[in-house]
Amino acid sequence: MTQTRDSFHSRIGFVLAAAGSAIGLGNIWGFPTNAANNGGGAFLFVYLVVTLLLALPALYAEVYIGNQAQKNPVSALGDACKNFSERLGRYGGVIGLCGAIMMLSFYTIVAGWMLSHALSAISQLIGLTDLSTWLATSSTERNLIFTPIFILLGAAIIHQGVNKGIEKWSTRLMPILLLMLFGLIIYILQQPGAIEGLKVYLIPDFTQITNPELVISAMGQAFFSLSIGVGGMMVYGSYMQKDKDLGKLVLSITALDTGIAFLAGLLIIPALFVAQHAGQQVFQDNQLVGEGQLIFHILPELFASMGSIGLVVATGFFLLLSIAALTSTISSTEVPVAYLVEDKNVSRRKATWLVSAVVLFFSMLLIAFFDVLFGAFIRVLTTILQPLSCLFYFIVVGWLWHRGNKLRDKSLQHGRKYLVMWGNYLRFVCPVLLTVVFVNVAILN
Ligand code: PFF
Repeated sequence: MTQTRDSFHSRIGFVLAAAGSAIGLGNIWGFPTNAANNGGGAFLFVYLVVTLLLALPALYAEVYIGNQAQKNPVSALGDACKNFSERLGRYGGVIGLCGAIMMLSFYTIVAGWMLSHALSAISQLIGLTDLSTWLATSSTERNLIFTPIFILLGAAIIHQGVNKGIEKWSTRLMPILLLMLFGLIIYILQQPGAIEGLKVYLIPDFTQITNPELVISAMGQAFFSLSIGVGGMMVYGSYMQKDKDLGKLVLSITALDTGIAFLAGLLIIPALFVAQHAGQQVFQDNQLVGEGQLIFHILPELFASMGSIGLVVATGFFLLLSIAALTSTISSTEVPVAYLVEDKNVSRRKATWLVSAVVLFFSMLLIAFFDVLFGAFIRVLTTILQPLSCLFYFIVVGWLWHRGNKLRDKSLQHGRKYLVMWGNYLRFVCPVLLTVVFVNVAILN
């Protein structure tokens, strides 16, 4: 099976695909929404701390397990736990796999909103005003149409395989998104009310940073944003040749992802304050009005205020967001697909359609019971399942793998002292830190 495995052609291909997985709606929708709901600067501060102390090491552990095993997450974790209990490892992998399906079932709904907003701008451009309004207004019908379209798009790419599908798509479009973000930030900062938003975003209220709700949201957001705890990064790690310098790659992915989230905040939070300044009700009791969907009203208004070029910008922006969502969807879908192909001998094509059908089922369920299930899925995934999986990865890497000797492997550390310290940090500090946060979640829930 190993000889027939597809793989990334280069380290840069891996970094870009992994960054493509990490950079998505979590950065541009999730991060600013969470930051706006949790005091702006305080959230940003805690987010950066959690990313550095926990999410980055967890990403390392996840990629490392996959890279060493060169297998799908279920088998990779099974291998890593072999000396202790292979079955336990495989169960860990299956839990991640369920997380990936859970993620896909709400993510594809939000991604569908992006597509419909892009089409709304296009229809406005060509004069189909009624259609444009319909596309920009949230409704169950709209979800019922655009979620399946998005799932189909993802399936179409993923069944082509790793480098023709994933690597090619992930490497091309991110620079354009970045440029667009910069342009929009410059524009928004010149609008009345924006500077107030900038202050809220950049100046932390330190009395807030110990608020457990805030810490939990920041942790969930950081794990979600880096795509960790569901096996997506593990499976990408497995598609790269075994590498001794994983640290550098993981650092680049984290820097790219965090940079984009920071920039998105720099755009969206001032945009919210601009809208508030113009008389809209944006906040109520320090919370965003309208369940996080508000951003999708504020952004089109921002584009409309730009005059005739606004529609072109809107089209480009929402199309790029759809693509960013697609590259994230692909990595999540790859987790169950790789498992079915490698462990169950299902063809890639069949596996892709099977997984897409399961995702379609769950997303339809979420649409049918949107008010009850949508927020609950996000919360359970990001604040329970992902942190728990990451805790498991730390324990596997630090304690179970070769009875904990894996990280002390001399060939791995090639004599560098800081790598010994890094190993000890993963072994001793990370599991404790994560447990402390996790116990807080349990108490709060
Ligand atoms: N990191 C993605 C985002 O921020 O939008 C979401 C994600 C992708 C989570 C892939 C998990 C995953 F496996």
